[in-house]
Amino acid sequence: MTALLAIENIHAAYGLSRVLFGISLEVETGECVCLLGRNGVGKTTTMRSVMGLLRPTSGRVLWKGADIAGWSPHRVARAGIGFVPEDRRIFAELSVWENLDIAARAARRRGRWDIDAVYELFPALRELRNRQGGFLSGGEQQMLTIARTLMGNPELLLLDEPSEGLAPLVVETLLEKTRELKAQGVTILLAEQGVDFSLALADRVYVLEKGSIRHSGPAAELRNDSALRDRLLAL
Ligand SMILES: Nc1ncnc2c1ncn2[C@@H]1O[C@H](COP(=O)(O)OP(=O)(O)OP(=O)(O)O)[C@@H](O)[C@H]1O
Ligand SMILES: [Mg+2]
Repeated sequence: MTALLAIENIHAAYGLSRVLFGISLEVETGECVCLLGRNGVGKTTTMRSVMGLLRPTSGRVLWKGADIAGWSPHRVARAGIGFVPEDRRIFAELSVWENLDIAARAARRRGRWDIDAVYELFPALRELRNRQGGFLSGGEQQMLTIARTLMGNPELLLLDEPSEGLAPLVVETLLEKTRELKAQGVTILLAEQGVDFSLALADRVYVLEKGSIRHSGPAAELRNDSALRDRLLAL
């Protein structure tokens, strides 16, 4: 069976600075797969390479078997991949509803996600619909960023460090919501530094180190083996 997404041996660089050294990974339909690794190991760069925001210097990015490396970000989004960037780029001057409305109008794919559906997933956003984006808390902004990306009805959601900078209670809510998303059939590729968050969600894990894959396997293996976890992720 063809994987939904398969990255084959990609190398990537920013100018002369080489960052990815042969990353390969697969995501099957319905899975939640986590890219786990510390600061600067190449998690975001891997996602940018999938999204067409950075062209890999070599290797292939296969979406349902077709090589999409070199496609524009818009074309990749239209093909069914949604990206939730780590810097949560919402429009600070616009209300929650306006942020969602813009995304809805820009969406080229119809499907189950519209404004009502994302309000159902995130009731807090319905309550806050008239509030300006800039006045939302970090957790609320993260939910809005995810909701906005869902308006494009992606089959695969790339979630870049969703829990970063959020208070533990907020992270707990986000975890629940992400589980719900998965239960509703959204396939997820998650990038995280946080072991707890990623292991609570992921089916499988790839541990990155300095632009390479150091380990891959079921998340359960890392959940159950603290020695392995320490060896792979210790500072
Ligand atoms: N725009 C850029 N120009 C030059 N170098 C960059 C750029 N973006 C990232 N890098 C470098 O590429 C490497 C990988 O960065 P990347 O952002 O992919 O890591 P990351 O795993 O997402 O880290 P973090 O957990 O901090 O988000 C780092 O050494 C980083 O300094
Ligand atoms: Mg990053």
